[in-house]
Amino acid sequence: MNLSSPTRLSPPAPTPHRSPLGPLALLLTLRRNPLEIWCEDDFRLPMQLRKTIVDRRALVNDPGAVRRIFVDNARNYEKNELQLRLLRPALGVGIVTSNGTAWRRQRQMIAPLFTPQRVKAFAVPQAAAAQQCAERIDHVARNISGHTLDVAKEMGRLTLEILEHTLFGQGLACEPSAFQHAIAHYLETFGRLDYFDLVGLPDWLPRFNRLTGRKSLQHAACVVTEMIRQRRALLEHATPAPQDLITLLLTARDTEGQALSERELHDNIVTFIGAGHETSANALTWILYLLARSPAWRRRVETEIDAHAHEGPEFTDLPVTRAVIEETLRLYPPIPMMSRVARNDDVLSGVAITAGTIVTVAPYVLHRHQTLWSDPHAFDPERFLGAARERIERHAYIPFGAGARVCIGMSFAMTEMLMVLRCLLGRFRFDLVPGHRVVPQVRVAIRPQYGMMMRVSQREAGHP
Ligand code: HEM
Repeated sequence: MNLSSPTRLSPPAPTPHRSPLGPLALLLTLRRNPLEIWCEDDFRLPMQLRKTIVDRRALVNDPGAVRRIFVDNARNYEKNELQLRLLRPALGVGIVTSNGTAWRRQRQMIAPLFTPQRVKAFAVPQAAAAQQCAERIDHVARNISGHTLDVAKEMGRLTLEILEHTLFGQGLACEPSAFQHAIAHYLETFGRLDYFDLVGLPDWLPRFNRLTGRKSLQHAACVVTEMIRQRRALLEHATPAPQDLITLLLTARDTEGQALSERELHDNIVTFIGAGHETSANALTWILYLLARSPAWRRRVETEIDAHAHEGPEFTDLPVTRAVIEETLRLYPPIPMMSRVARNDDVLSGVAITAGTIVTVAPYVLHRHQTLWSDPHAFDPERFLGAARERIERHAYIPFGAGARVCIGMSFAMTEMLMVLRCLLGRFRFDLVPGHRVVPQVRVAIRPQYGMMMRVSQREAGHP
């Protein structure tokens, strides 16, 4: 299972296959765990073109070609249908699942919420939510026998609470745990590729494994409708309303003075709950796991956090902690794979790409590529410190995507993770429960298949 190194931690990752999977094995593996489809050449070659019965696919690992797809010739590469089929049932016509003019219009309307000043101001409520989570963990550390908790679940709850404190000022109109449950159910049903989608059968044929997922979608839809109703009531009566995502979406106008449609409004609220929750929650879970497996790095992070314990909540100048976050996003990028379809013929890395080719850029593979990283499967945050950080090619490291469609929540997420780690690692130490199985699995994001059971203990600042 592991590509282990004698000196540094090589955390769990599926062993790449010797040669590419055949069509049937590929279908089965994509459905079980898309992280297991890769073969050795994928981590070795800059570019591969493969023809299947249904389409032509290119896997791109050359940073120059990545730049061409996302930046220089981005208009030629639209999000492709297969990727959209996973997300559209929930995210509808929102910003993540739109292309072309519809996407551009929404991006311009939502961007004012993510300016550097707005993101800086979010640090305080993010830290407050982390504090609330610390109180819950404190209860476990003091009172629960065995002091164990599923950190994956706890981080899921925390990142939802952070959204409540920042983007959704009046809360989620339901218990965060109920929403968390609905999202988990959605990912287990809709979040798995369906055989019918994989072989390109039309949408009107029912996907049986998804029938049960509809209930969670309906639940989320009702909650979001209620959130919009409450906010409209406030705005109509000129009552002071939180200056958050919902107010922005309700009041924003495009360049022609048009508001978002009712559908766009609804779908963008669901989009931000989905996109802003699973990604950060899984990243935080993997960070706590990797630190538990690397005591030396954990001590360095604790020392840095302790040294700045007196700083205000918005303090983010923590280079070692930041390097640990970046290295975790390299090894376990929450969005492990992005696909686009070429609208017109193009050339990537000297290879002709014909119109209709599906071009995949997989951060999971790119970030572990032998030609771009030394000891690529090893956990080594040193890569992201000082001069070493500057040597990393811009388009060899893309956990947040690149170009115009780069993650709109990137700075929000980085601040959020710093705030959470500062708060939690200043007070607690997390250790893996012996024997707990940790298996990375893709359900839209990379998550630990069996959760992340950890033992939590209190620590005092300055004490190793
Ligand atoms: C560690 C945390 C996160 C990671 C690794 C991440 C990663 C990504 C990636 C890779 C994309 C581009 C997808 C593509 O081009 O196909 C993306 C887009 C997006 N992300 Fe994030 N994200 C994170 C957190 C967040 C947060 C906290 C929010 C909201 C507050 C958010 C909102 C979005 C939205 C709305 C888009 C679509 C942007 C567009 O298409 O214009 N993300 N994210």
